[in-house]
Amino acid sequence: MSTMDSIINILYASLILVFLFSTVMATSIGINYGQIADNLPPPEKVVPLVKSMGANRVKLYDADPHVLKAFANSGVEFIVSLGNEYLSDMKDPAKAQAWVKTNVQAYLPATKITCIAVGNEVLTFNNTALSDNLLPAMENVYAALVSMNLDKQVSVTTAHSVAILETSYPPSSGAFRRDLVSCVTQVVDFHCKTGSPFLINAYPYFAYKADPKQVQLDFVLFQPNQGIVDPVTNLHYDNMLFAQIDAVHSALASIGYKNVCVQISETGWPSKGDADELGATPDNARKYNCNLIKLVSQKKGTPLKPNSNLNIYVFALFNENLKPGPMSERNYGLFKPDGTPSYPLGFSGINSGGSTNSSSGNRPATGGGSSTPASWSPQDGSSSSGYMSITSNSGRVLFCWKSWILQLYITVGSISVLFSQL
Ligand SMILES: *[C@@H]1O[C@H](CO)[C@@H](O)[C@H](O)[C@H]1NC(C)=O
Ligand SMILES: *[C@@H]1O[C@H](CO)[C@@H](O)[C@H](O)[C@H]1NC(C)=O
Repeated sequence: MSTMDSIINILYASLILVFLFSTVMATSIGINYGQIADNLPPPEKVVPLVKSMGANRVKLYDADPHVLKAFANSGVEFIVSLGNEYLSDMKDPAKAQAWVKTNVQAYLPATKITCIAVGNEVLTFNNTALSDNLLPAMENVYAALVSMNLDKQVSVTTAHSVAILETSYPPSSGAFRRDLVSCVTQVVDFHCKTGSPFLINAYPYFAYKADPKQVQLDFVLFQPNQGIVDPVTNLHYDNMLFAQIDAVHSALASIGYKNVCVQISETGWPSKGDADELGATPDNARKYNCNLIKLVSQKKGTPLKPNSNLNIYVFALFNENLKPGPMSERNYGLFKPDGTPSYPLGFSGINSGGSTNSSSGNRPATGGGSSTPASWSPQDGSSSSGYMSITSNSGRVLFCWKSWILQLYITVGSISVLFSQL
């Protein structure tokens, strides 16, 4: 067979796959791009990586100019963040104006910044001086956007830890910590006035780690399990993340807000931890994140809000070697700093032309190929329950369906198929 024939065969095989699976496609996923590390690849190399995983939304913990420039004209949407240390400055409208001008306006429209997160988990530091700065900072940043006529395209919010809840189980009993109610109420009022979402960082992993005997691993990993029924609403929950989200909805309803848009600004699972951090393994991380991405692709809302769009941002893109705290903190990444997957998640990495291993370890060698991974992941798959990505540099086509991962390695003259189950 000539090389040309082989190429035609490859294209043909790819087209058939695209045709076969185009009706069961993925929706978009968001990813947190944390950079507390000294060994990460330059942002230019991160652009194809983000695209190869089918992510079209990125959340930053700052407004890193290098990243925002690298992603110009990439079509990827950004949440940029204003660090907690800047909140007191933002009480000064002129400083808020200057911040928005430099960190947001300067990159528009080439880089699609759609949201500013003002502070991260501010309310759970128990620092009243910091908490008192939150709402004024959000208001001044918003006012700056209005003055630049950007308020319709960029929203203003803040991300909360799920620990703002005093009770979260069963979900219908969800209630905010009493000392935070007045502050949360003001923030939610701001969301309603400006049309921005309420962001929650939710980690079922923490619940499991705190009480591995009581908390069922399958329930937190989105694996098949009996689930729980909320005795008040009679709603059935088969995973903890959805239970946590609905607890937030219940808490919001209890302070008088029934229809707030709640989105998940962080969730994830570490692939490594200290000896006392039960559950932090590559296998659990893979199950959590792959099952989560499947749920996202099914566009399923929670039992209480079945039609809501959760807009989930996975934490995180990379392992971050300089994060303090237990070992798990440095091991949330889907990718290692060299761009290879932390575990076989099905995404290709920066160096996937030669150095990533599939779950079974028997992937065939692939040629050098192009160095730019291409991905295909339509965002309008209405009846989707799987996802697919095509990576041109490794000649790999990946398809994720229910608990199955189908990988096709297309090399010149041959196609190998690898089936694996989660
Ligand atoms: C903040 O206070 C709550 C109780 O009011 C406590 O449970 C929590 O651990 C405290 N958080 C920090 C970071 O000190
Ligand atoms: C890939 O797998 C082989 C054998 O299974 C191993 O020797 C090699 O170190 C692995 N490479 C990477 C990058 O993990």
